[in-house]
Amino acid sequence: MTPQDLIRKKRDGARFNENEIKAFIDGVSDGSWADYQITALVMAMFIHGLNLTEQSALVRAMLYSGETLDFSDVDAPKADKHSTGGVGDKTSLIIAPLAAACGVAVPMISGRGLGHTGGTLDKLESIPGYNVRLTTSQIKQVLKKCGFALAGQTKKLVPADRKLYALRDACAMVESVPLIVASIMSKKLAEGLDALVLDVKTGNGAFMDTLWDARVLAKYLVAAGKDFGVNTEAVISDMNQPLGRFAGNALEVYECLNIMRGEVDELSQPTLDLSIDLTARILVLTGVEPDFEAACAKCLEKIRDGGALEKFRKNIELQKGDPTICDDPGKLLEKGIKRFDLVADGPGFIDEIDTRAVGAAICAIGGGRVKAEDGIDYAVGLECRTKLGDSVSKGDVIGTVYCRSKSQFEAIGEKLRNAYRIGGEKPKYLGLVREIVVA
Ligand code: URA
Repeated sequence: MTPQDLIRKKRDGARFNENEIKAFIDGVSDGSWADYQITALVMAMFIHGLNLTEQSALVRAMLYSGETLDFSDVDAPKADKHSTGGVGDKTSLIIAPLAAACGVAVPMISGRGLGHTGGTLDKLESIPGYNVRLTTSQIKQVLKKCGFALAGQTKKLVPADRKLYALRDACAMVESVPLIVASIMSKKLAEGLDALVLDVKTGNGAFMDTLWDARVLAKYLVAAGKDFGVNTEAVISDMNQPLGRFAGNALEVYECLNIMRGEVDELSQPTLDLSIDLTARILVLTGVEPDFEAACAKCLEKIRDGGALEKFRKNIELQKGDPTICDDPGKLLEKGIKRFDLVADGPGFIDEIDTRAVGAAICAIGGGRVKAEDGIDYAVGLECRTKLGDSVSKGDVIGTVYCRSKSQFEAIGEKLRNAYRIGGEKPKYLGLVREIVVA
């Protein structure tokens, strides 16, 4: 079976059997397929889709494309959460230490920014010195010492997704249910988990913008977890505006540290609320707490008593970052960075935010990648000074852009300003958590 045979077959809309899917993933993992051949086949999969049998075969082939983790000697329930991707979507930075503070071990394998969305690894690398490139034995050591580890796929761990993720990002091949299911579940199932909570985003900043599509994705993700014996639940959450106060790598870490230090305001409250909701579900699925209410109360207690922050500090030390940012989060804000305000050009209510355009604008000034090999400027981003439904007057500041120069601001300022639509009627609030999908 040559790459050409497989590309031709999917190009013409035929179905693959398990061996063909495995041959493709083997070729991705052992380097025998060229990037252009991989891209051609993924694009054909994107266009023609995969049926359920092909989708399960892809999850399995990717999962076993490398080694899997075995934490059976870690004396705590193992769980994780994964998001399908959004703008300002930073809850992993709170959920991992918070769940650890509540007694759950979290071996979190995360990704980099994808399309217009941010990635946990990029956010973490904005912490001076922080190392996300852990070997599997280092992941285990960190997990045992502080209850959670945050790392990227190693060369040995789900190598196929590492390659496919970067090519899908660079070639506009992200918004496909089977490709997302295989990417997320191969990483998560390799972690040897007891429980998994998925945050499936819906709205104009999500890969699945309609609630219908988000439901389909959530159902397939949950079904894949069940197939592999992992207690899995999905939350469909709103992505019709950036989550919380900041979008941009260092800025998001700054927001999370402030939250874990007990400094929450109206704009960062949704970040805390969603983090608590998702962590509480982890606590119930692992049997650490009897019900959702008790689990939420436990999470709040661990934020208030500083337990989550202390876990994060310990983790930063172990992963070679600078733990003093926990005492002074302001250290993450680069001194030379320039701030430019976006102002309302008339009175009314913020009735729509084009969240994808916000994410794309941040990427365009270096906050994300346009090409797979691009570096990241951790300091740039947007401070959301208003949210959907807020009433504004002409001249009010609706957001602040953090960037390197006036010309950078000029490149994206108008797009960002236009991303915020101001209208005469207050829009109906749809809620942060829209639906729960259980196995
Ligand atoms: N997150 C992932 O890890 N993979 C995807 O394809 C989308 C979001």
